[in-house]
Amino acid sequence: MAAELLRYEKLAGDLEGMIAGGMLRHGDRLPSVRRLAQERRLSVSTVVQALRQLEDRGLVEARPQSGYFVRRAPAARAEPAQRSTPDAAVQVDVTQRLVRVLQAGMKPGVAPLAAALPAPALLPVAALHRLYAGVARRHPKLLEGGSHINMDEPALVRQLVRRSLAWGGPLAGDEIVITNSCTEALGLCLRAVTQPGDTVAVESPAYYLMLQLLETLGLRALEIPTDPRTGVSVEALDLATRDGRVAACLLVPNASNPLGSVMPDEKKRLLAALTAARGVAVIEDDIYGDLHFGSQRPWPIKAFDTAGNVLLCSSFSKSLSPSLRIGFVAAGRYRPALALQKTITSGGTNPVTQHVLAEYLESGAYERHLRSLRRAYERQVEGMREAATRHFPAETCITQPQGGYVLWVELPEDIDTTALHGRAVAQGLAFVPGELFSASGMYRNCLRLNCGNPHTPEIEDAVRRLGQLIGQSESRNALSRQ
Ligand SMILES: Cc1ncc(COP(=O)(O)O)c(C=O)c1O
Repeated sequence: MAAELLRYEKLAGDLEGMIAGGMLRHGDRLPSVRRLAQERRLSVSTVVQALRQLEDRGLVEARPQSGYFVRRAPAARAEPAQRSTPDAAVQVDVTQRLVRVLQAGMKPGVAPLAAALPAPALLPVAALHRLYAGVARRHPKLLEGGSHINMDEPALVRQLVRRSLAWGGPLAGDEIVITNSCTEALGLCLRAVTQPGDTVAVESPAYYLMLQLLETLGLRALEIPTDPRTGVSVEALDLATRDGRVAACLLVPNASNPLGSVMPDEKKRLLAALTAARGVAVIEDDIYGDLHFGSQRPWPIKAFDTAGNVLLCSSFSKSLSPSLRIGFVAAGRYRPALALQKTITSGGTNPVTQHVLAEYLESGAYERHLRSLRRAYERQVEGMREAATRHFPAETCITQPQGGYVLWVELPEDIDTTALHGRAVAQGLAFVPGELFSASGMYRNCLRLNCGNPHTPEIEDAVRRLGQLIGQSESRNALSRQ
């Protein structure tokens, strides 16, 4: 066993050396598994293990029926560091600024770098149209009833349970509530497990919609330091949850928005145990879990939850269509409280759409679609990263996301991205300023870019012009310092 371990590590190391030394270059096909096995006198499984290790390190990618290829080397650029956060929870006040920023970003002619929306061409819209027509024809009674009592379509619940096998499930069918989108799921969870005035722990930076939810529900945000690669700090959460002041955690552990971080399994396991022991509910948003760039689907915290303490939320907005407005919560022991919130909020979820989604999942088309979508998002993120590396100031730090399709950019300290935003919109450019990802006004020198669109010359030009604007603010600030 030890010798076998050394053999695959040696092969992985040799191939890595060839990539680093330029003998194998971006796009090159690696020798086939069989050939490597013959030439190196190794077993096929040892070769596959070595290749998987390179895949996990992001150095090669497997292409179905074609073999392994060298991946594009990430553009050389420093990544942002984890920042320390205020000790106290604060009231949130982002909504008004947020609405202005998102509306400005949606104006016709503005480059689509603000809201995290995928390009329509990446989505299986035609297949969904066909399914809507078919479901309406085959189930004419779906629009006749409508029920606040049996809200969830068993066919969809069944598919969600089956899919959960891929990440450490299965979920229990009777803990699931189907919702109108992930946004509704998160709001229902917060209402089910908190009271106004409570404190909720969030990542820092945190997805702005989560801050907005806390604001409108009268909840306070406690920002927890978050590592751009490995997610929220479990040590900091441990300290924060010791004295009973935190009612719930609201987290995006897989390909977080905006950092793209993925928590390693061990951190997830610790977090699940810690919060269960202290009775702190975990609301987990796994909307980007299917959109990972590594070879394995990362498990959610829910997979490590033995106490029914995690409320897993997701939707198909990022992978199928934001317009479906369909999501779910697997609510564990909070299921009754959650079902009540669902009943008084929106009763049920459109049954036609539930059937459409169930049929789509059942057909196997979703898994095929995900395989190409993940590659497209990864290419787009890398394209944007390279463009920002080319056009933004040299000291800029940029995340290396492990999934999803947003990029977090940390500019030199004295650039104020909120001030920059006004000037950018006037020139048909958009982004989301960093301060909207913090309840306490951190990240004023940061911004988030949407990479949901193919990296066309138009997008490249938008990034170039944004870089020019940043450069102008930099020289303006330098002058005012003199
Ligand atoms: C982390 C996260 N959760 C939830 C949502 C919203 O999902 P939905 O459109 O299903 O409400 C988004 C959209 O940007 C997101 O990034």
